[in-house]
Amino acid sequence: MKLALYPGTFDPFTFGHLDILERAVTLFDRVEVTVAVNAEKETIFPIEERCELIRQCIRHLTGVEVVAHEGLIADRARETGATVLIRGLRQSRDFDYELPMALANRALQEDLETVFLPASGRHALVSGTLVRDILRWNGDVSAFVPEPVLNALVRRVRS
Ligand code: COA
Repeated sequence: MKLALYPGTFDPFTFGHLDILERAVTLFDRVEVTVAVNAEKETIFPIEERCELIRQCIRHLTGVEVVAHEGLIADRARETGATVLIRGLRQSRDFDYELPMALANRALQEDLETVFLPASGRHALVSGTLVRDILRWNGDVSAFVPEPVLNALVRRVRS
C-alpha cells in the first residue's frame, strides 16, 4: 500500500488544492491530507476547522484521510510510513519555494520523495492570498473555493 501525504496550510482549501488531490488519488493507494502549521502564516480558520472543511469538500473521494499535524512533515511521514509528499506547482516561482523544502524533507527523512503535480490550467493562478484579499473587500470568491469553504468564509466575514 503506497501512502502519500499531501501537506499544506490550506487556508482556505481551494479548487486548486482539490484538483491536485483528485489527481493524486489516482496515483497512490491512500492519500493523507496533512493540514499543517506554517509558522510564517496567520490563518483565517483554526486547524481543526480547516480539516473539517476539507472533509466536507472531498466526500466524493475514497482512500483519503484528513489529519491535523503540528510539527515537522518529515515526522508525520515517519509516523505513518508515508514515503511520498505531494505538492502542486502552479508557476515557476513555486518551484523556487518548493525545491528547498523538498530537499530539507529528504534530509530529515531519507526515503521521503516529493512528487510535484502541475496545476490544471484554470487553477494555476489561484492562491490563498488572492482569496483572502478578494474577501477582505467583500468580493465574490465562489470561482475559487468549493461550497463548504465558501459558506464558512461568508459566515466568517459577516460575524
Ligand atoms: N492550487 C491553489 N493554490 C495553491 C496550490 C494549488 N494547487 N498549491 C499551492 N497553493 C497556494 C496556497 O493557496 C498558498 O497560497 P498563500 O501562500 O497565498 O496562502 C500557497 O500556495 C502555499 O500554500 P500551501 O500549499 O498550503 O503550503 P504552505 O506554504 O502554506 O505550507 C507546509 C507548507 C505546511 C507544507 C510547510 O510549511 C510545512 O511543511 N510545515 C510544517 C513544518 C515543517 O515540516 N517545516 C519544514 C519544511 S521543509
